[in-house]
Amino acid sequence: MRVIIADNYEAMSKKAAEIVAKTVMEKPDCVLGLATGSTPIGLYKELIRMHKQQGLDFSKVRTFNLDEYYGLPPEHPQSYYYFMYENLFKHINIPLQNVNVPSGLVKDVKAYCLHYEEMIKQAGGIDIQVLGIGGDGHIGFNEPGSSLGSRTRLKTLTEQTVKDNSRFFERIEDVPRFAITMGVGTIMEARKCLLLANGTKKANVVAQAIEGPVTAQVTASVLQLHPDCVAIVDQEAAAELKRKEYYTYVERMSQQFDKV
Ligand code: GLP
Repeated sequence: MRVIIADNYEAMSKKAAEIVAKTVMEKPDCVLGLATGSTPIGLYKELIRMHKQQGLDFSKVRTFNLDEYYGLPPEHPQSYYYFMYENLFKHINIPLQNVNVPSGLVKDVKAYCLHYEEMIKQAGGIDIQVLGIGGDGHIGFNEPGSSLGSRTRLKTLTEQTVKDNSRFFERIEDVPRFAITMGVGTIMEARKCLLLANGTKKANVVAQAIEGPVTAQVTASVLQLHPDCVAIVDQEAAAELKRKEYYTYVERMSQQFDKV
């Protein structure tokens, strides 16, 4: 795993945007895997800036989001569709028919999840998957204990996730208890993964994910098995990494190669 330690949230977001933009420029009809949460907001802001000021073109890009709360309609202010629309889609030139966020309203969940997987396959697979990390080490909504080979399905959220995400809702009782999420196996099929984390609160889980054993108890740790995963973390989130100096040294040394 390539580990980039950025000075702060802004630098983390800029570096992430540089990597995503490179994919979009090299392959204008690329497939982006997108994530919600507070972590990628800076990345989306930077992509919007690049679109507005530098003409970064999303007209042929297709997107698949990782997850959606089960039971929330797309127009619900806390739904992930709404989040994506407000924080990215409405500000760039992506046709809305090119964006895919799992539906939180489907009745036949199993059939729908198979369909979502099929749509990703039909699109040619995900070129780059953006990921945040939950307080319990989840990627998407793959809570501890999720099979490392899992596919898109309905998951029951842990108490910790419900509590962590309650900050966006009026009352904790309003937080949905279920979500539809791409599986760990689905995520691992993306050609490239981009894991982002910032802030002191993530320091311990980031160290577990990057340097701990690969375990279904911290689903982000499976990214250690991914052939092309870049983790970009800010100084605060990097605080508990044992090999922090080495990662910084590697990045400095690699500047002599053509690496974004
Ligand atoms: C949710 C999402 C994850 C996200 C996580 C962390 O649980 N399903 O995809 O990574 O929140 O959120 P934040 O970035 O706000 O810390």
